Amino acid sequence: MPTLAMAQDDIVLKLPPPQTPRNTSLVDALKARKSSREFSGKSLPPGLVSSLLWTAFGVNRPDSGKRTAPSAHNWQEIDVYAALPDGMYHYDAVAHALRQTVPGDLRRLTGVQDFVERAPLNLVYVANLARMTDASAEDRTFYLAADAGFIAQNVYLFCASEGLATVVRGLIDRKALAAAMSLRLDQRIVLAQTVGYPAG
Ligand SMILES: Cc1cc2nc3c(=O)[nH]c(=O)nc-3n(C[C@H](O)[C@H](O)[C@H](O)COP(=O)(O)O)c2cc1C
Repeated sequence: MPTLAMAQDDIVLKLPPPQTPRNTSLVDALKARKSSREFSGKSLPPGLVSSLLWTAFGVNRPDSGKRTAPSAHNWQEIDVYAALPDGMYHYDAVAHALRQTVPGDLRRLTGVQDFVERAPLNLVYVANLARMTDASAEDRTFYLAADAGFIAQNVYLFCASEGLATVVRGLIDRKALAAAMSLRLDQRIVLAQTVGYPAG
């Protein structure tokens, strides 16, 4: 990963500016979009991770702070976490940086399928219920699922356009992962998404 800046106990990976993705048309990306479950262990270059995270849920309108994926009421309640071999990171979209939240390799805990510990990156989509103000429990559950889905599809299309393998996953031991991530009670793990180079 790129520049490693350490401030007190904080580990922050400043991401390089997102690269202009390959010039794939939307139609070609849609034709190539698919779920893959066989990943190479090869790590992803920082520029690609940068573009991937920006595509997932980066700030695309700095004037308003709005993002590449829509969210109900513009709550922006989904936090994107990245499980990398050396730690779990929170994607700070405004700073376009990854902030380590837990040291160590948590990739295995992001799912129950074998490939999750081998792939170089597992994204975890976590809803912060505290941001979903004035909503019923039923509405929250509906909207947070929808909002995570938009982010996942952004990642699917990015991966399709870049020749990467990906699969979104609901099969997660949420209790174990939430404990490992030290999440609060008002944070809910929605989905995870594995990303890497295709095997072979
Ligand atoms: C909400 C959701 C949860 C999913 N959970 C898993 C999962 O836990 N594990 C997995 O291997 N695939 C999972 N998938 C992927 C689906 O199995 C896959 O999208 C479906 O078989 C269609 O294949 P395609 O994506 O290649 O079109 C999930 C997909 C969605 C939308």
